[in-house]
Amino acid sequence: MGYDDIYRRSREQPDEFWADAAKSIDWYGPWDQVLDESHPPFYRWFSGATLNTCHNALDRHLAGGRGDQAALIYDSPVTGTQATFSYEEMTRRVAVLAGAIRDLGVAKGDRVVIYMPMIPETVMAMLACARIGAIHSVVFGGFAAKELATRIDDAQPKLIMSASCGIEVGKVIPYKPLLDEALELASHEPAHCLIFQRPQAEAPLATGRDVDWSDSVASAEPADCVPVAATDPLYILYTSGTTGQPKGVVRDNGGHAVALSWSMKHIYGVEPGDVYWAASDVGWVVGHSYIVYGPLLHGCTTILYEGKPVGTPDPGAFWRVIAEHGVDVMFTAPTAFRAIKREDPGGQYVRKYDLSRLKTLFLAGERCDPDTLNWASEILGVPVIDHWWQTETGWPIASNCMGIEVLPIKPGSPTRAVPGYDVRVLDHDGREVPNGEIGSIMVRLPLPPGTLTTLWQNDERYVDAYLSAQDGWYLTGDAGYRDDDGYLWVMSRIDDIINTAGHRLSTGGMEEVLAYHPDVAEAAVIGAADELKGELPIGLVVLKSGVERDPDDVKSELVKLVREKIGPVASFKKVAIVERLPKTRSGKVLRGIMRNIADSKPYKTPATIDDPVVLDEIQTALKTIGYAGG
Ligand code: COA
Ligand code: AMP
Repeated sequence: MGYDDIYRRSREQPDEFWADAAKSIDWYGPWDQVLDESHPPFYRWFSGATLNTCHNALDRHLAGGRGDQAALIYDSPVTGTQATFSYEEMTRRVAVLAGAIRDLGVAKGDRVVIYMPMIPETVMAMLACARIGAIHSVVFGGFAAKELATRIDDAQPKLIMSASCGIEVGKVIPYKPLLDEALELASHEPAHCLIFQRPQAEAPLATGRDVDWSDSVASAEPADCVPVAATDPLYILYTSGTTGQPKGVVRDNGGHAVALSWSMKHIYGVEPGDVYWAASDVGWVVGHSYIVYGPLLHGCTTILYEGKPVGTPDPGAFWRVIAEHGVDVMFTAPTAFRAIKREDPGGQYVRKYDLSRLKTLFLAGERCDPDTLNWASEILGVPVIDHWWQTETGWPIASNCMGIEVLPIKPGSPTRAVPGYDVRVLDHDGREVPNGEIGSIMVRLPLPPGTLTTLWQNDERYVDAYLSAQDGWYLTGDAGYRDDDGYLWVMSRIDDIINTAGHRLSTGGMEEVLAYHPDVAEAAVIGAADELKGELPIGLVVLKSGVERDPDDVKSELVKLVREKIGPVASFKKVAIVERLPKTRSGKVLRGIMRNIADSKPYKTPATIDDPVVLDEIQTALKTIGYAGG
C-alpha cells in the first residue's frame, strides 16, 4: 500500500489501524478499547491493557535472539571514550539499577527527576524508572538551577538522579552545585539524590540525602518489570510555554510504545538490527523518542554521542561516528549542519570517511532552510528528510515516510501529514483556508497514540493552551500553509516561542527575568534571525527613570541574569537599551514589528500604533548591537 491508502486507513479505521500496529508490542493483558473516547476532550489509547515499556525496549529482545547485539553505543569525544552495551548487558544493568532505586523507596507512580549528561547511565536511569513503573522527568543539563527547581516543585520527585558533572567542548560543568542550589530554591524535598560520580569532577555528597550511585548498584538485587496500565504515565517532559512556567507534557506507556515502534519502521524506514543515530540530547524530546525509546523498542542499535558537530575535534565528527559505527539512519537538527557548513563549506571532511551504510538523514527541531537541506544532500548523497514535530506530539506530525512510499522532496516543506494526524490550516473562525494561504496549523482530535495526554496535574492548562482555540482541534502553535499537493509548509510560531539551535525557548520567560532587574522598567525579548542558530533572543530594555548607570554594566548584568535564571542554553547575549517600546494604543507591545526591523525586513506600521516615531528609535538602538542593518 502507498502513502495515500495507508493515510486514509489511519483516518477511517483508526481502531483497526492502531490495533494492527500494537502487534509489535508485548502486552501482559489486552485492552478493552483501542481508542477510549469516554471523556472528551481527553482521549486514551489502549485503555484496560497492561504492559511494561522497559520489557519491550530490552528484555523481550533477549528472547528474540538479540542478546548479543549492541543495544547502545556510547561515543564520547569529549572524554575520549567509547563503550558498547549489548541488549543482554543493558538489560542486566537496568534491572540492577531499577533494584537500587526501588531500595531507595521509589515505587510505581512515583516521580524521579533525572538531571544528567549524555552518558549511558542516563539512558539506564530512564529505563530503570520505566521498569518499576516510576515516572521520569529528565531535565536538560544546560538549564540553570532555577529552571531545575521549578521542575522539581512541579513534579515532586521522590528521587533525583544526577551526575557529578557534564562536559561541554573544553569545559567541565559541575552539576552537583547546580542541583544543590536548585534544592535550596525548591520547596519540595526529594527523599534522596542518587549521584553518579564522573572522574572529571567528583562531587562531595551530603550525608543522609545523597547516595553514591556505584555503592547503591553494588548492593542491589535486580528488579523485575512491573506491569503498568497502558494509560499510566511513562514520563513528564517540561517544555517552554509562553510564560516562565514550563509545561509538563505527560506521555503514556501504551500509546507511546505503539506509536514509536510504528514510526521507526514506517517513517524512518529502519529494520530491527539497524544502527540508528539521533544526534540530540536525552534532555529533549528527540532524545527521549529517538535516542532511547524508539530504537530500543524496535530492536535497533542506538548511538549516544557526547560531543558536538564541530569542535570535537573538527567538522568531520559526525562523519566519523557514522563510519565507525555503521550508522544506517541519522537524525539531527538543521543547526548542526549549519555549524558544519560554516567550518567546512566544501564538505572536505566527508571524503575522509566511508559513509556507504548511511541511507537517510532526517532533520527536525526547527524550520529547515532549503540551503541547508540542499547542502546536506549534496555532500552526503542520500535523501535528506525534513520532518515536523514537537515535544507535545513526541513523534512526527508531518514527514516523508521512508518506510511507506518515498514522495518527492520539496526543500522547505516537511512533506505531508503522517498517518494518524488530520492536519489542517485554519483561520481565526476555524474555517479551513484555501491552499497557499497562511493560517494556524491545527490537528483534529483525537490525536494519535503517543501524543501528550495532558499536562502534569494540570488538565485545565492543557485544555486552555492546546484545545480551546477551536472546539475539537489541537493547536500546534505553528503557522503555515498547505500547497496543492497536500504538502505542509511550517513557517513560524504564532506565540512568543523561539527556536535557538533547535532548542525551544520562551521569550516571555526571558522577559520575566529581565523585568526582575532593579533598574529595568520594561523589557521585550524578540527572536532575530541568526545564520547558525536559526534565531537568537535579543532584549530591548527600558530603564527606570533616574537610573544613571553605565548602560554597558546594566547590559552585562542582564546577560548574566538570564544565564543564571534560565541557563546558558538560552544563548542570550544581546541587549539594546531603548527609551520606550513600540505599543498599540491599548498597550500591546509590537514584538513582531521589532523582529522585522531587527531582520531588516519590510513591515507595515499598524494604524493602532501609539507613536510611530518609536519605530525609528528602535531601529537606531538595534543598529548599535549589530541588527537592523547595523
Ligand atoms: N550542559 C551544560 N551546558 C550546556 C549544555 C549542557 N548539556 N548544552 C549546551 N550548553 C551550553 C553551551 O556550552 C553554551 O554555553 P556558552 O554560552 O558558555 O558557550 C550554551 O549552552 C549554548 O549552547 P548551544 O546553543 O548548544 O550552542 P553551542 O555554541 O555550544 O553549539 C551547535 C552550537 C549548533 C553546535 C549546537 O547547538 C548543536 O550541536 N546543536 C545541534 C543539535 C541539537 O542538539 N538539537 C537539539 C534538538 S534536536
Ligand atoms: P520542540 O518541542 O522543542 O521539539 O519544538 C517544536 C517546535 O519546533 C515546533 O512547534 C516548530 O515550531 C519547530 N519545528 C520543529 N520541527 C520543525 C520543522 N521541521 N519545520 C518547521 N518548524 C519545526
